[in-house]
Amino acid sequence: MDHYNNESNQNINNNQVDYKHFIPRQNGFVFKFIKKDNDFIHTFAEGDFLEKIGLSPAYIIGKTLHDFSPKDQANQKHCFYETAWNGNLVNYEGGANGYHYLASLTPLIIDSQIVEVVGTAIDITDYWKDVTKIQELEKLSLIGELAAGIAHEIRNPLTSVTGFIKMIQERSNDETTNEYLKIVLHELSQINTIVNQFMFIAKPKETMEIINTDMKALVSRVIEFMKPQANLKGLNFIEFISSDSIFTAQCDPNQLTQVLMNLIQNSIEATTDPTQKIVISLKNVNDNSFLIELTDKGSGILPERQKRLFEPFYTTKEKGTGLGLMMCKRIIENHDGTIEVNSQLGEGTTVRIILPKAFNHHQKRD
Ligand SMILES: Nc1ncnc2c1ncn2[C@@H]1O[C@H](COP(=O)(O)OP(=O)(O)OP(=O)(O)O)[C@@H](O)[C@H]1O
Ligand SMILES: [Mg+2]
Repeated sequence: MDHYNNESNQNINNNQVDYKHFIPRQNGFVFKFIKKDNDFIHTFAEGDFLEKIGLSPAYIIGKTLHDFSPKDQANQKHCFYETAWNGNLVNYEGGANGYHYLASLTPLIIDSQIVEVVGTAIDITDYWKDVTKIQELEKLSLIGELAAGIAHEIRNPLTSVTGFIKMIQERSNDETTNEYLKIVLHELSQINTIVNQFMFIAKPKETMEIINTDMKALVSRVIEFMKPQANLKGLNFIEFISSDSIFTAQCDPNQLTQVLMNLIQNSIEATTDPTQKIVISLKNVNDNSFLIELTDKGSGILPERQKRLFEPFYTTKEKGTGLGLMMCKRIIENHDGTIEVNSQLGEGTTVRIILPKAFNHHQKRD
């Protein structure tokens, strides 16, 4: 072992300057190994990035892969090392502690003999994150396409089933049958809502109809509409605060109604104490934009769950579809607005929406 340490020290002295020139210390590392007694022994290691992945030259030099890597990784890397020792260039990805790197192994041949293998590794963490993000987006758009396809197929038969049930209802004088039909119609309307949400996720822009809308009237209407839902849970108060004089905004009132309905619904579902009220306020931010803020004193949301709220199908509810907040975000962003959720577990949740008063048609994205 001493022998290798000596050799590695020599190598450090010989090579330090060279490697520093072509590998930025923070963004990568360099290492070397030789084969001895059927195992690979590291003779050199250098680079600040080593520390980020939880290693240091002292851990590596004079050691085999199994001395410092988990067994499965060590076995895998051993294969890469073997391939390089047989005279091939090898690239592989590795990582630890949330960092990712791309490593290349280059065999050094002197007099037709492989004398050592030089490995270089560069930090690809950012690139890796971008790729993951793109994959996430692709997944989303695939879900969107699937959703639209399925929703489209379901919509037509659903309409005709609903129509026929209504006809049967009109002709039936039997009380029990009518009760059942009422339930069937209710369930069908649930399916219809979900199907429409699916259609919407895939093609949000096509359904936008921008008109000048009195915002105060819109919010009041939604609250009136949602009050029976709140009463069902014993909640009596949805309070509306609107300090500013009436103002209009260019928006799709149906879509904003949907957003508010979803948010109020979430607040109603989260509130267990019937003495707590849900407060909605509407005010000017400046001449060009306004704020809709919705606060509940409900369960609140665990911090680690907060970043997942806008993901499709993310739900903690038995009967939730997990599409509510995602749709809200789509709609608000299509209006060039922003939506953010602030929540304290056990304290409650506040949703803040900021929207422009004028809709810029040129920014309409496809
Ligand atoms: N006001 C709130 N208070 C506490 N938790 C909330 C609140 N709003 C949303 N959440 C959490 O975020 C999750 C996602 O909400 P979202 O509205 O997207 O879906 P959902 O309500 O579960 O189902 P859906 O709205 O499709 O019926 C909820 O399951 C819940 O855990
Ligand atoms: Mg919801």
